[in-house]
Amino acid sequence: MKRRTFTLGGVAAASTIVLAACGGGRTAADAGDGDDAGGGFDADATIGVSLPWLGTQNWAEAEDLFKAQLEDAGFTALIQAADNKVPQQQQQIEAMVQKGAKAIVVGPIDGTQLGSALTAAEDAGVRIIGYDRLIENTDAVDATVQFGSVRTGELQGQSLLDGLAERKGEGPYNIELFGGGPADPNAPNFFQGAMSVLQPKIDDGTVVVLSGQTDFQQAATQDWDNGKAQSRMDSILAANYSDTPIDGVLSPNDGIARAVITSCKSAGQDVPVVDGLDAETESITSIWAGEQYSTVHKPTSDLVAKTVEIISAYQTGDEAPEADETENNGTIDVPVYALDPVVVTKDNAEEIFADDPDRLALLDG
Ligand code: BGC
Repeated sequence: MKRRTFTLGGVAAASTIVLAACGGGRTAADAGDGDDAGGGFDADATIGVSLPWLGTQNWAEAEDLFKAQLEDAGFTALIQAADNKVPQQQQQIEAMVQKGAKAIVVGPIDGTQLGSALTAAEDAGVRIIGYDRLIENTDAVDATVQFGSVRTGELQGQSLLDGLAERKGEGPYNIELFGGGPADPNAPNFFQGAMSVLQPKIDDGTVVVLSGQTDFQQAATQDWDNGKAQSRMDSILAANYSDTPIDGVLSPNDGIARAVITSCKSAGQDVPVVDGLDAETESITSIWAGEQYSTVHKPTSDLVAKTVEIISAYQTGDEAPEADETENNGTIDVPVYALDPVVVTKDNAEEIFADDPDRLALLDG
């Protein structure tokens, strides 16, 4: 068993990822369903899906895809989004339990704030799956389905370096660093993955962060708010780049990437090399137009399909498919189904989106 512990700005990260093949968490019997012949629950059971917000394209896509895929599988879908407000998400989960949901899928706003709502759900025999984000500090979780979040960050950091070499000639390069919302357990992992690639280049002088803001807490963007990222970029440019070009910016997702590009343009800068995440419509268009350099694609349809596959195993009472690894959530080692994210640039976009007609259609001309 290989255990990886990550360090972030000198502080040990809250979670430890253990790479190991392992089973899919609690059995139906553990979840209180063991007295049914064959375990499981009714084939048309209600399945709750609690999304954190609909502020980025991936969550809006998840809302539509969960409805379609759960209904195709014969379930009754009960889907809600919580507008980034933790109490709202807690209440939505409680209401799903009251309405008899047999499984609840949760993309937590704050990974650490759902313990009591989820314990009550577990006590009612509900199966609980973390979706895209880890549910932290509770044993009331069966599994997490996500794209490797540290891996995502590594791809972002490497893509930034590749873009700098491709577009900005010889180094050293001036870059700045952005992170996502600090309550989202993905955000420190994305940053940590990226810094594992960038820190050696900072140390050897290949890249320079003129603002000096290299810790996650300094780089984080409260609530993943694009406007806040844009204001921070405006301030950094005003303070450090009035007569110096900025060459690149690490961005944790596409919305922040576009906010950063807008800020740089209004400061009269050439467009820097900026990576992203989510393969959002506007960013694919920007990449195709030669502005944003890259994005990391983590297809929502695949993530939803994997989640529905696991729920279907819970429904029949069969053993869930084998997880890829476990991640310690502060309380237990959670089985994690980890899908592979992929970098998209102008060079490979047509190939990556060959089977995605909506995104492919953005690449015309
Ligand atoms: C997701 C990203 C998304 C971000 C903001 C993250 O947890 O992994 O896809 O852009 O949240 O919504």
